[in-house]
Amino acid sequence: MHSFTVELKERTYPIIISDDINDFSEALLRSCVGKKIVIVTDSIVSELYLQNWVEYLVNLGYIVVSYIFEQGESSKNLKTVEGIYSFLIENKIQRQDTMIALGGGVVGDITGFVASTYLRGISFIQCPTTLLAQVDSSVGGKVGFNFCNIKNNIGSFYQPKMVMINPDFLKSLTRRNINGGIVEILVHCLISSEHLFEYVLDHIQDIYSNHHDILEYLVYENCKIKSDIVCSDEFDYGKRAILNFGHTIGHAVEAVSEFSLTHGEAVSIGIVGAFILGEKLGLTKNGEKEKVISLLSSISLPIDLKGFDIDTVYERILYDKKSHGEGIEFIVPISIGHVERILVSNKELIYSVLTDLSNRTE
Ligand code: GLY
Repeated sequence: MHSFTVELKERTYPIIISDDINDFSEALLRSCVGKKIVIVTDSIVSELYLQNWVEYLVNLGYIVVSYIFEQGESSKNLKTVEGIYSFLIENKIQRQDTMIALGGGVVGDITGFVASTYLRGISFIQCPTTLLAQVDSSVGGKVGFNFCNIKNNIGSFYQPKMVMINPDFLKSLTRRNINGGIVEILVHCLISSEHLFEYVLDHIQDIYSNHHDILEYLVYENCKIKSDIVCSDEFDYGKRAILNFGHTIGHAVEAVSEFSLTHGEAVSIGIVGAFILGEKLGLTKNGEKEKVISLLSSISLPIDLKGFDIDTVYERILYDKKSHGEGIEFIVPISIGHVERILVSNKELIYSVLTDLSNRTE
């Protein structure tokens, strides 16, 4: 078992990583002060884990109700949010009650958003079941949903009361789903830890074969990296932007693919784009791009924009929420483990990065 606290003054909360459900009980009883708990989950996770969790919470003395929605990014919309609001009203959920997000990033983001707005805010707990959610999205309080085909453009900052992480959940994941988490792990390595990048390189096969101790270590280290950055800039006015490494192009590609690419696959292309941009700006150390591309392609992640209409991707980048009047902020790699935030006002330069991504030959 590992645990630490995300230090955010009155919003401070614990992250507990354990494969023994009983290790969560003490913090859970402290966090959930009302009588009722609402578990929100999706159609896949509910089949695997819901019953177990309901029994556990009932044994702790709570009245438990569950809301299940269809798995996938296409559910991350206002209709799902409305469905949950109605369910909370039907079940007479009060301000002191708690919601638990049992699932991946979509479940966590939607549940957190509903919790942040229902009755002007009720408590919620993250219980992430995918690698992506365990190493990234369950920590830091960014919650929301997609609107008008634009990723996460409606949302709020709303910290959970605690994060309960069971690395055993990862056993049920497909390789494609694991890859989604590996990409976010790589984002954290590339922005802040060359040592962790080398560790991932050395242990990549252990991740797929579900090596318990290696996964637990990676989840812990990644939650720490994310937590340290969030604690230095909770509301994303400055440093927190580096967590979006690879995401400026990535979000655009994800939307243009109409979500046929996963978030991780789109960010993989975005990471390569960030290295191409860094080289064009003369900022990125020689050889780093090749090291990263070699790792991404060795695990079958996409590294180019073949088949995409780059004009459409380019237009979508201009829509991006990080687009400022004077240009677009990119997170540019200097070397592995070190990035800088650069405002790029030269639109032709951005277009040329997309052209290079489209023409990549290896
Ligand atoms: N995933 C980016 C952030 O939490 O800021």
